Amino acid sequence: MGPEPHRAVRFLLNGEVVEAADVDPTRTLLEHLRGALRRTGTKEGCAEGDCGSCTVLVGERDGEQGVAWRAVNSCIQFVPMLDGKAVITVEELAKDAPHPVQAAMVEHHGSQCGFCTPGIVMSLYARAIDAKGTGAPVSEVLAGNLCRCTGYGPILAAAEAIPDEAAPDVAEQLADLRRDSMLALEHVDPIAGQTRRWFAPRDLDELAATYAAHPDAVIVAGATDIGLWVTKQRRPLATLIDIGQVAALKTMTREGDWLRIGAGVRYVDALETLSALYPDVGDMMRRLGSTQVRNSGTIGGNIANGSPIGDMPPVLIAAGARLVLRQGDAQRTLALEDFFIAYGQQNRRPGEFVEAVLLPVRVERTLFKVFKLSKRFDQDISAVCGAFAIQIVDEVVTSARIAYGGMAGTPKRAMACEVALVGRLWNRTTIHAAVEALAGDFTPLTDARASATYRALAAGNMLRKVYIESARPDLPTRVPEAAHG
Ligand code: FES
Ligand code: FES
Repeated sequence: MGPEPHRAVRFLLNGEVVEAADVDPTRTLLEHLRGALRRTGTKEGCAEGDCGSCTVLVGERDGEQGVAWRAVNSCIQFVPMLDGKAVITVEELAKDAPHPVQAAMVEHHGSQCGFCTPGIVMSLYARAIDAKGTGAPVSEVLAGNLCRCTGYGPILAAAEAIPDEAAPDVAEQLADLRRDSMLALEHVDPIAGQTRRWFAPRDLDELAATYAAHPDAVIVAGATDIGLWVTKQRRPLATLIDIGQVAALKTMTREGDWLRIGAGVRYVDALETLSALYPDVGDMMRRLGSTQVRNSGTIGGNIANGSPIGDMPPVLIAAGARLVLRQGDAQRTLALEDFFIAYGQQNRRPGEFVEAVLLPVRVERTLFKVFKLSKRFDQDISAVCGAFAIQIVDEVVTSARIAYGGMAGTPKRAMACEVALVGRLWNRTTIHAAVEALAGDFTPLTDARASATYRALAAGNMLRKVYIESARPDLPTRVPEAAHG
């Protein structure tokens, strides 16, 4: 017998089933936890995915056996996104005594006012149970947790002191129970709030039909951007379509010379594969948002929202990626750069959605470099992001694909610069001419992140750096780990 239809959102909170009936679909998990559920250990700092004080763990069924846990920012998760999942909040950790993670924070004086502490504890707890996205140094795990008063030295010391045996406890004990309980939570009907509608289609056909019927709907993937439309811009979103239940959008498959990345693949799930193909992409992705953001955000979402400062589009454009779009039963494929028409305008028809990205996998002979320039090393939006795919045969440039973010109203190829490179010797003279040509490609803006002059200079310097790294691989050109760790 199939799951019983149900109108309420249901999820496990610290092992107990909770229901949210007729919840506003744009109510955030943080609001719901602190309000209706009175779990006030989880704090609100920024309400935009930057500070990490709202960090909780979300578990999803993973394959036939397990539950995959991820640390996420509850301030930008909408309640219906939790349907059929499990949540662990800080209240679950300290029962009779502080959890070893908390004890380490006390021991090493890792907390002063304590406002950031629950979020930091949850990030470290995620690391202790080896949740998704935490196979990384502590500095990376905590890059999305800001503390204004303790200083990071004691927090990092606490993190390093957490004993190995602190690992599985809560999550492991409850994993089977949660998994079985989560199976029982499955249901299929759309969730309708008082004034807004939330659709959660289960497969591609249903998604295509739902979007065709509601072309004005907002498609939600990880909500790392759309969450802010609600929490910061107070935009009234009448109809939302959650693609998180469409399994076909969450897969990466090899198709001949292409890697097909479903639009719902999260950064955390693509990181290892992309790092192996393009090491510089992996380095950049580790600085894209935070662990919590990468655990929720999707590559498809980074493309579909059309931001001129998204980091993945210039990288994928330089790599020669193509985009698969679907509208009803019709599918079309276009070069990714042709998707971005102008600021806020994409080559997308009513009811048409991003289904997948196709990424070339034959990259052996290509010099592929990515540089992300931002004011902070971690978790910051780029002032300029440059990506370079250059083939050189016998000292001559045989092809060049160069794309920048932050230099125009869209992510954009540097066509004049490319022309100045192709067919020329790969040397300083050619680089100088190609940097000059960049002036014809872009008229950057001045904003809070950088001045137009700085952007133009930085874009040229990135190309110079590509050359220097290829000509003098012995020179240290990257920020060493110790400088930001
Ligand atoms: Fe700051 Fe959620 S409240 S990340
Ligand atoms: Fe006060 Fe971190 S202890 S913000």
